[in-house]
Amino acid sequence: MIKHKRHTRHELMPEIMTRYANRALKKDPIAGETLEALVEAAAQAPSCFNEQPWRFLIAQGERRDRLMATLTPQNQEWAVRAPVLIVVLSKKDFSYNGKSNYWHMADTGCATGFMMLEAERRGLTYHPMAGFSRVSVEEAFSIPEDLAIIHVAALGYPGDFESLSEKHQARNHPQPRKLIDELLL
Ligand SMILES: Cc1cc2nc3c(=O)[nH]c(=O)nc-3n(C[C@H](O)[C@H](O)[C@H](O)COP(=O)(O)O)c2cc1C
Repeated sequence: MIKHKRHTRHELMPEIMTRYANRALKKDPIAGETLEALVEAAAQAPSCFNEQPWRFLIAQGERRDRLMATLTPQNQEWAVRAPVLIVVLSKKDFSYNGKSNYWHMADTGCATGFMMLEAERRGLTYHPMAGFSRVSVEEAFSIPEDLAIIHVAALGYPGDFESLSEKHQARNHPQPRKLIDELLL
């Protein structure tokens, strides 16, 4: 396993420094208690009106196989070694008045950030993916209409770099970031 660390101008939280969208995963199972802790970490995120719009479909065994089939072939190539796949969902409307919640995706994104960093702290890789068929996920799991599918994540312990194809090896390191000055208005 190759250990990467980001180069930043300032020293940041260790998990921010080491996290990246790793594709080299191990098939080793993940304890149920660990999965529950990740959901609990996500649940500590802030949200508009404390709506907590995030929902998680944690797929293992047969459900994982069903979800794997909805990924693009390119994602399947490396995600096939992930013991757990997660569908991140988000409730579109406020519960207190039924009106559209403009902030639901931002809040659920924040919650998945919490989950990602807690996964990193526990030595796990949480790799988000947009490369899947939303229609296939909706059909395969009868997703209720009030929930939006945000992304599918591959979760696993970091594995052997050599398990990846040359193409995936070439991309398997932290990607560069814009300079701080480019982010400021
Ligand atoms: C919403 C979202 C969708 C993504 N979709 C994919 C994907 O389908 N396949 C993939 O290999 N990586 C995917 N990624 C990972 C990004 O490509 C990666 O985070 C980005 O290139 C920055 O790399 P780094 O986080 O390793 O520095 C996705 C990330 C996010 C947040």
